[in-house]
Amino acid sequence: MRAADIANDLTTVLATEEEILAKLNEIAAQVAKDYEPDSLVLVGVLKGAVMVMADFSRALPMLVPMDWMAVSSYGAGTRSSGVVQIRKDLDTDIHDKHVLIVEDIIDSGLTLSWLLENFAARGAASVEVFALFRKPEAAKVEVHCRYVGFDIPNEFVVGYGLDYAERYRNLRDVAVLAPHVYS
Ligand code: PRP
Repeated sequence: MRAADIANDLTTVLATEEEILAKLNEIAAQVAKDYEPDSLVLVGVLKGAVMVMADFSRALPMLVPMDWMAVSSYGAGTRSSGVVQIRKDLDTDIHDKHVLIVEDIIDSGLTLSWLLENFAARGAASVEVFALFRKPEAAKVEVHCRYVGFDIPNEFVVGYGLDYAERYRNLRDVAVLAPHVYS
């Protein structure tokens, strides 16, 4: 589904599928320069990162294992605490591994901040972050993000894995959701 198919639900398109894929190729080339072959593990954060992981991993010119985490905050009102609950843990041991966390978006930064500490505590050799989108104005904690696709305004965005009430994840482009949809 393209933004034009649901134009009434959207205001501004922030990144088209073509722009996203071009950016993923650029970052994949950089990552391939930065890591030795066979040294890297990609960890995707469900569910939003599914699309990024699928396209980014295939853009890499090297073999790379993939694992997944699913996390959620401990309940309404506590999100700002940054305490998260593991709903699905990694299947692999990341001790002594070079981990690249693949995220669709950094909003407050709380999820990643927690994940970075958690992975460091498991003895990873290194832990870096690739986020396709980042909202600098929404940051509550600073997260060092080695690879960033696009910095975007602090708006409600959907598409390419990003949802509103589980909808819009299968939109190929990323766009601002029109206020009439959620108000
Ligand atoms: C989104 C996104 C990040 C997190 C970022 O996931 O995929 O994991 O929020 O927000 P933060 O920087 O404020 O912590 P969400 O909890 O919406 O789950 P989903 O990926 O299943 O949609």
